[in-house]
Amino acid sequence: MIKDTFGRVHDYLRISLTDNCNLRCFYCMPEEKYAFAPASKLMQVDEIETIAKLFVANGVKKIRLTGGEPLVRKDAPKIIESLGKLGVELAITTNGIRVHEMLDELLGANIRAINISLDTLQADKFLKITRRDLYHQVRSNIELLLQHDIRVKINVVVMKGLNDNEILDFIALTKHNNIEVRFIEFMPFSGNQWTSNQVFTSHEILLEVASAYDAIPLESEPNDTSKRYMIPGHSGSFAVISTMSAPFCETCNRMRLTADGKLKNCLFSKSETDLLGALRKGEAILPLIEETILAKAKALGGQFSGVFENIDASKLENRSMITIGG
Ligand code: GTP
Ligand code: 5AD
Ligand code: SF4
Repeated sequence: MIKDTFGRVHDYLRISLTDNCNLRCFYCMPEEKYAFAPASKLMQVDEIETIAKLFVANGVKKIRLTGGEPLVRKDAPKIIESLGKLGVELAITTNGIRVHEMLDELLGANIRAINISLDTLQADKFLKITRRDLYHQVRSNIELLLQHDIRVKINVVVMKGLNDNEILDFIALTKHNNIEVRFIEFMPFSGNQWTSNQVFTSHEILLEVASAYDAIPLESEPNDTSKRYMIPGHSGSFAVISTMSAPFCETCNRMRLTADGKLKNCLFSKSETDLLGALRKGEAILPLIEETILAKAKALGGQFSGVFENIDASKLENRSMITIGG
């Protein structure tokens, strides 16, 4: 069992497969020209499998594949197949664009739930946010997943003045579709030009929903990132992820492995441990994993606390989101 000094058991591993992506969302990639990691620096299929097995042997019960965009990696089907055999819950967070090309592998690996990042229901705004004209592709792939009885959550990063006027449109989508829409507070990462006045808080989101509906809180799972709600008569549900206004670090069970094989003990941690380097040198990596988690801060990577309005994003030491995977 992997535990930190606050007694939190870490049984959820997020593995980033690549820092590459087929979209160019302005809030995820750094402003300056970005060079993707060369293939030689990335964990190979067998290395991912070795590391994942070690985590599973030490209590990990859930693995989520992230990116960049995990499905742009050509060997993603192989990785999905191999991790599908580990006997733990395998999940994926994707932008949805290549889902139709890999549906058989996803079904074959017994993936039953997929989280899709989609910040707008307007094709022209999708182009503005992602710099790619692929809105309809994502929508048709969401349909495809629902037809195959895969549980779909849609991740919506809400940014003031950009898509906060679409909250009720997203809620409307849950009326006839069994989808969970999750509204996420915008978080600061290196190079993403975050300012506190762009954060549309969970409280504001709930007020907007309350202007049109009576939402009823649902039970959350013990380590959930989100607070869930249902609206009577809707097939789907919605949730809020309140990292900025109400962090949920007390119940954190998450570890992150970057595509280049570095272990991060928090989304906002400064330090990283090079598991891939150690593996390639033939060194034992379990002690490194244990040390890394023992060094975990109580909350938010120890980088900020208190009111989010006071955060100076330029002082944060972290990677950009595209290299962490959320
Ligand atoms: P489920 O397993 O379906 O609950 O998904 P998840 O919330 O664990 O993962 P997902 O990749 O869908 O992430 C949704 C949002 O939550 C993203 O904006 C993530 O950055 C954020 N998130 C995920 N894990 C953490 C975490 O440990 N801390 C914080 N602060 N945010 C997180
Ligand atoms: N703040 C909040 N969520 C973010 N994501 C990407 N960047 C940010 C950010 N700055 C979300 C993506 C994806 C998930 C893994 O993280 O939309 O759904
Ligand atoms: Fe866990 Fe860090 Fe996220 Fe808090 S911010 S929930 S400690 S990963």
